[in-house]
Amino acid sequence: PSHSPAPPAFSPALEPREAAGAAAELFRQAFDAEPDGVWYAPGRVNIIGEHTDYNGGLALPIALPHRAYLALRRRPDRTIRLVSSRDAEAVEVLDLDAIGPKGTPGEVTQWASYIAGVAWSLEREGFTGLPGFDAALVSCVPLGGGLSSSAALECAAAVAIDEVAGLGLAGPVQEPDDAGRARLVGVCVRTENEMAGAPTGGMDQSASLRCREGHALELDCRDGSVEHVPFDLAAQGLALLVIDTRAEHSLTDGQYGARREACEEAARILGVDLLADIAPQDLDETLERLRRSAGRDGGPDPERAEVLVRRVRHVVTEIARTRELVALLQQADALSGEALAAVGALMDASHESLRVDYECTGPELDTAVEAARAAGAHGARMTGGGFGGSAIALVDAEAVPEVARAVARAYATAGFRPPAFLNALPGAPAG
Ligand code: ADP
Ligand code: GAL
Repeated sequence: PSHSPAPPAFSPALEPREAAGAAAELFRQAFDAEPDGVWYAPGRVNIIGEHTDYNGGLALPIALPHRAYLALRRRPDRTIRLVSSRDAEAVEVLDLDAIGPKGTPGEVTQWASYIAGVAWSLEREGFTGLPGFDAALVSCVPLGGGLSSSAALECAAAVAIDEVAGLGLAGPVQEPDDAGRARLVGVCVRTENEMAGAPTGGMDQSASLRCREGHALELDCRDGSVEHVPFDLAAQGLALLVIDTRAEHSLTDGQYGARREACEEAARILGVDLLADIAPQDLDETLERLRRSAGRDGGPDPERAEVLVRRVRHVVTEIARTRELVALLQQADALSGEALAAVGALMDASHESLRVDYECTGPELDTAVEAARAAGAHGARMTGGGFGGSAIALVDAEAVPEVARAVARAYATAGFRPPAFLNALPGAPAG
């Protein structure tokens, strides 16, 4: 029987002027005043280097053209008022002196924690005496799609507060201050970890604050150093199709934290600070050592040791794949011919490693990448934390509709909810 699914739905990026205008208008309606300005910050997709950030490894994200836009006005007191276009009637009113981390009496709602929490974190980092503010949010980063809609809120709040409070960390748009932005990343990660209670690494916030248009960001999470690697997809007739599986995922539900804890446990047993300290050529010997630790005093049981072996293998091989992919992109004809095939193969291998060794994919993500590859993608993989969220497929630009249709068909056959799609082009950082 041929029941054809609905045509694939693409989530467009809002046109910046229009989106900024919409945020300003929402601000006027909610607060009956003019905002001081509108600031924005993008969501991200990661090309490769997954679950490496909290292990001190490499990641390679790009900023999306999909952004959160925040119209904001400084207040003379310490009150914070927030409204989102998702519920324009509900204004949250908070007191900067009373808010605090998740699980404490100062806990605020999840979405407010991403914005008000940035002011809280800035003060903990020494930028005390900040003013309160009113803010209105319009965002086209799909929510809960693993595309860092929450980091986009944090980073938009960070650059906005930075400017209205005169902190000078982000620097002017034409001349951004990367060292200052790196500090803001730390502030936003603290917000995510403490105020929102999600034990994530710093990849999302780094992407949103430190990417460069037309480039991927090679991020070394050991020391926060970055390189901007040319990634001009359009010039090569390529596109990065993002498939939002619309399967439930959450970074606060324990699965993500459990992976992070396993890495920390393995590092402890192996006597390294970070799993990134393990050289690829020492991997086999290291995994043997991990196996031998089973049953020893304070060691894991044999079954747990095998789990740790798989987690470590993913992290060490993923860092090596990321390094390889960066080297390919640095070649002149990176995105054509054999080099393109090699880039695709690395993406495929990354997904396999996340599926088999890190066990953080799931039927919707696996179906998406399989269907995309079968329809001609050069490479496909899950992106972000996993357990739902989104996948990416590197495809010829003209093949985008066909690949999207193929994925939608595979979803209909499997009885999954229809996926959503968007086109990722390496966009600009928060400004
Ligand atoms: P992801 O970052 O993968 O999109 P998260 O669960 O980390 O998923 O973040 C989603 C959360 O971010 C939402 O539950 C909500 O609290 C907040 N959020 C994102 N966008 C908006 C928005 N436009 N309005 C209000 N809250 C938002
Ligand atoms: C989430 C998380 C990041 C990173 C990623 C996996 O997106 O926020 O810090 O760990 O998962 O690479």
